[in-house]
Amino acid sequence: MRHLLSTKSLSRDEALQILDVAEDMATVNDREVRKLPALRGKTVVNLFFEDSTRTRISFEAAAKRLSADVINFTAKGSSVSKGESLKDTAQTLAAMGADGVVIRHHASGAPLLLAESGWIDAPVINAGDGTHEHPTQALLDAFTMRRRLYGGASRGRDLNGVSVVIVGDILHSRVARSNLWLLETLGAHVTFVAPATLIPFGADGARGAGQAPAWPATISYDLDATIRDAQPDVVMMLRIQSERMNAAFFPNAREYSRIWGLDDARLASLGPDTIVMHPGPMNRGLEISAGAADSPRSTVLEQVANGVSIRMAVLYLLMSGQSPSVERKEAS
Ligand code: CP
Repeated sequence: MRHLLSTKSLSRDEALQILDVAEDMATVNDREVRKLPALRGKTVVNLFFEDSTRTRISFEAAAKRLSADVINFTAKGSSVSKGESLKDTAQTLAAMGADGVVIRHHASGAPLLLAESGWIDAPVINAGDGTHEHPTQALLDAFTMRRRLYGGASRGRDLNGVSVVIVGDILHSRVARSNLWLLETLGAHVTFVAPATLIPFGADGARGAGQAPAWPATISYDLDATIRDAQPDVVMMLRIQSERMNAAFFPNAREYSRIWGLDDARLASLGPDTIVMHPGPMNRGLEISAGAADSPRSTVLEQVANGVSIRMAVLYLLMSGQSPSVERKEAS
């Protein structure tokens, strides 16, 4: 694996390797060994053309905990506002020395372009591109599910037979897409629940011959029936992405919240062990109530903490040139 551009292209073995190395990183973090020497002398460039709190800061924390130097670039306030292209921006940063590049971009496919263009000779990690993919988010979500479902016995295990219900703005969500492909690879079953206006056209297979096949997921428009019938282990609420909406957001916010939001009554209808996830940032009172977001079932802050371990694992595997077993010796 030279780059991490999507979860669709990850094999089961590659995904489990990342999750297991993240377990090592989490163990190190839990013991409060604040730094490993694995990437000493290397530089990670964070290229953020779109806003971010969790992803940008956790990549920076992950790189620093591996002793790498970090260059943070955000498009706001840069020469991008003067019209500088992705190519010239990337090559300018490469000239300053980059051993790994983390990129978030509003255009789907920008990380692939950077990886395949030859503009920069370093591993490229997709930190979210348009509505395409957000692979490290899906990996940290799977890591969180494994830990909650299997506790200390999660190493080496996939998510075979786990029922995951993903609710909300599927249309615009790179998190939904990355989770779908990774969860399918790990053996989980995914159900998407949303109003028809927020499900991508053709996701349910209802389109003409010669078009892309249906997604490997059950599609539902009824959250209460899905909670009752699917008996989910995991309910993942997605943010309504108002900034990407045009006329598509129908029904309106109040109707959405009433029909598809995880309110306190729906929270109470979940099975006793069902966990509630959200990638953040949350619209409290719209897709999720404060009671659900802050309940003991909620993994929202665990997901944030686990994101550092997953990003450490990805940076380590792509940039260190060492095997995980060497890392275990260094960490002990
Ligand atoms: N979940 C997520 O990608 O959050 P940020 O946009 O804050 O990075």
